[in-house]
Amino acid sequence: MYPIQRNRRLRTSPSLRDLVSEYSLSPNDFIVPLFVVDGKQIKEEIPSMPGYYRYSVDLLTTQVKSLWKLGLKAVLLFVKVPDSLKDNKGTEALNPKGLMQKAIQTVKEAVPEMVVMTDVALDPYSSFGHDGIVQEGRILNDETVDVLAKMALSHAQAGADVVAPSDMMDGRILKIRETLEENSFTDTVIMSYSAKYASGFYGPFRDALDSAPGFGDKKTYQMDFSNRKEALVETQRDIKEGADIVMVKPGLAYLDIIRDLREEVSVPIAAYQVSGEYAMLKAAAAKGWLDHDQIMMEQLISFKRAGASLIASYFAEATVKLL
Ligand code: PBG
Repeated sequence: MYPIQRNRRLRTSPSLRDLVSEYSLSPNDFIVPLFVVDGKQIKEEIPSMPGYYRYSVDLLTTQVKSLWKLGLKAVLLFVKVPDSLKDNKGTEALNPKGLMQKAIQTVKEAVPEMVVMTDVALDPYSSFGHDGIVQEGRILNDETVDVLAKMALSHAQAGADVVAPSDMMDGRILKIRETLEENSFTDTVIMSYSAKYASGFYGPFRDALDSAPGFGDKKTYQMDFSNRKEALVETQRDIKEGADIVMVKPGLAYLDIIRDLREEVSVPIAAYQVSGEYAMLKAAAAKGWLDHDQIMMEQLISFKRAGASLIASYFAEATVKLL
């Protein structure tokens, strides 16, 4: 009761505020997404993601070493595949000398301690821009899962520590887990995009990889953003099938889902602050409407507060530099 209790007492100085703060950020919280392109000496800015780049494999080495120096411990690799290598079966995704496989090897050689995570989904390899094999306008589930399992194995063989299926097909975690076990990759971690919503926030990412769906949308496999309980059902199933880390995606508009999962599951939860979230802040800051760094920190802390153990973020490097 006032004045015995005054809420403002613990806010009187920066030191006191630091001492009683409940959440903080550290380099250990982050996963750094990296976009990789074919070619040499390429560092090209993604138009809808100002300040974020695609790198050719030869330039990955310097980039990854500099991330490691900052204390960052995980990268999540995505590749931009030339149209000529795209088909409806993900053939190129299984090429042991493909771009992803080369990128994995390069990062592992540059910094062996860096945790290498890989995106497992067909969309960058798909002539239809879909995460699965297409037949008469429909996305085939089980046929896709077979390819995804081979793709995950190929990433593990190239040296990936963590495979991250982002496709939302049913049963893919079990099939990937079985395939890894059968091939003695018993330590390969599966980080499942378990609650991934069909979202408009992925727009800039699809520019980055030239992977926008050629027809329709992804609503028959990614989740309906009107649903909350379904996120728990999806996530619990993925854990039963063998996922070690689960994920909520996008981030900021789905903090309730992160909190729901945090209360129900005990495995680490990753949040993905996606490309559209990055683009929104960059655009508002460029207009002088919002303070970039302040909003960046505030949003990232909100993921921790909601219950995320890890955050995949295009702001990882900038944030760690500020800490
Ligand atoms: C592809 C994939 C997407 C993202 C990560 N993996 C796009 C999509 O599902 O269409 C989005 C990441 C982002 O927007 O930052 N399976």
